[in-house]
Amino acid sequence: MYQYQDYLEAYGRIMQFNKNKSEPFHRWYPFVEGYSKEFIQSIIEELDEKPQVCLEPFSGSGTTALELQTMGIKCFSFEVNPLMYLIAKVKLENDYAIDKIQHYFEFIKQERTNSNIAEVKTTFKTLYQKEGLKKWNYNASVAIAIEKIHLAIKLIDDDKYMELFTVALAAILLDVSNLYRNGKCLSYKKNWKDRNITEAEVFDKFDKKVNEELLVDIRNNKIMALVHNKKYLYHEDSRVGIQKTVTDNSIDLVITSPPYLNSRDYTDTYMLELKTLELTHTNEEVRKLREKTLRSHVQIKWKDTASIDNQLLHETLRELERATREQTMWNDSIIDMVRLYFVDMKSIFSVLYKKIRTGGKIYFNVSNSAYYGVMINTLEICASIAENEGFKVIEIRKARYLKTSPQQKNEVDKLLEGVIVIEKGIDQ
Ligand SMILES: C[S@@+](CC[C@H](N)C(=O)[O-])C[C@H]1O[C@@H](n2cnc3c(N)ncnc32)[C@H](O)[C@@H]1O
Repeated sequence: MYQYQDYLEAYGRIMQFNKNKSEPFHRWYPFVEGYSKEFIQSIIEELDEKPQVCLEPFSGSGTTALELQTMGIKCFSFEVNPLMYLIAKVKLENDYAIDKIQHYFEFIKQERTNSNIAEVKTTFKTLYQKEGLKKWNYNASVAIAIEKIHLAIKLIDDDKYMELFTVALAAILLDVSNLYRNGKCLSYKKNWKDRNITEAEVFDKFDKKVNEELLVDIRNNKIMALVHNKKYLYHEDSRVGIQKTVTDNSIDLVITSPPYLNSRDYTDTYMLELKTLELTHTNEEVRKLREKTLRSHVQIKWKDTASIDNQLLHETLRELERATREQTMWNDSIIDMVRLYFVDMKSIFSVLYKKIRTGGKIYFNVSNSAYYGVMINTLEICASIAENEGFKVIEIRKARYLKTSPQQKNEVDKLLEGVIVIEKGIDQ
């Protein structure tokens, strides 16, 4: 029913964040779940007219708003996770003074050298090595080194620079910890108990981040930003924030990639940074943050009974129910998650329809999923939800094929990741 276009070659590599890892500013934090700045460039290049105002409902590390800023295009963005929000905010700041960075950098070095803390306290049980624990995220020497840097950063009297150095610290945390990001969650590194990272090594990694990336990129930056997208970045749930903030019929272009329906919880994946940097203080705060995220994961038992009227979704849910009668469920919230993910999608497309001007477009990057051997055609379900809200679906671009998990492999071998191109037509 939908027109599929083969963009496997054009989009294959640029739909991953990897390419950003060597790009000034974008590289400050090694994000995983994003696309590259080339994806944004390719969209702007193919449009007949340069857009004036864009919108990114799921900002992540800020790739969309940052790239648009360098092109002089205004972009509203929304992000619910405090870590991603902070990273995007820091990358979008376009007025750092090199002498101030150097001044505060020297201050941090001095403070951490003078510090004599011997123990670090936290409400999170397994964050730091402690007697009686079987597992811990940071060895004691690493924990103390991080705390010394963090305490010094917190003493900086200018928020802009305090946040800049916090992102530099955030960027090295996983590396110096005993963990690695393992798809949906954090797992312990091989032989983690034998790792022996000294305080000096932690300091050195932090200093390298500042010297070789932050300072280099800010010093070399020749772009005079004509817009400042940091002003339009909101730390809010986009399901409610867009309606309150953005004027109706004002948006020319939306470029976005929502959380995929892959039961990955960003709160979990970035838990190490959230806890260490005190972006969440207690387990209760972590739970509250999860509640605000799009319902693409099963870390919460969703009680909402809402559903949407969509034939393809109904068929998929029926197939899932059939499949779960024949197999043991690894989590009994999966079907609720699938149902509610599309309830959320409907509320997003509904608010986008109000905010986009006639002739405006959406580039919506998402992938299909599979559970219990049932393929969930997220691309087509989202396309039909968008149509029901009044949009016209121009095409679905095939970007990449993703491998399925070993449990799905027999029934569903690979999953299409794509870009739905949508327009708000004239006669809607
Ligand atoms: C796939 S990532 C976006 C990546 C982004 N394109 C980039 O390149 O960095 C999806 C983001 O949506 C955020 N998110 C989840 N639920 C949200 C909500 N209700 N409102 C706003 N952001 C949300 C997640 O925290 C995550 O950072």
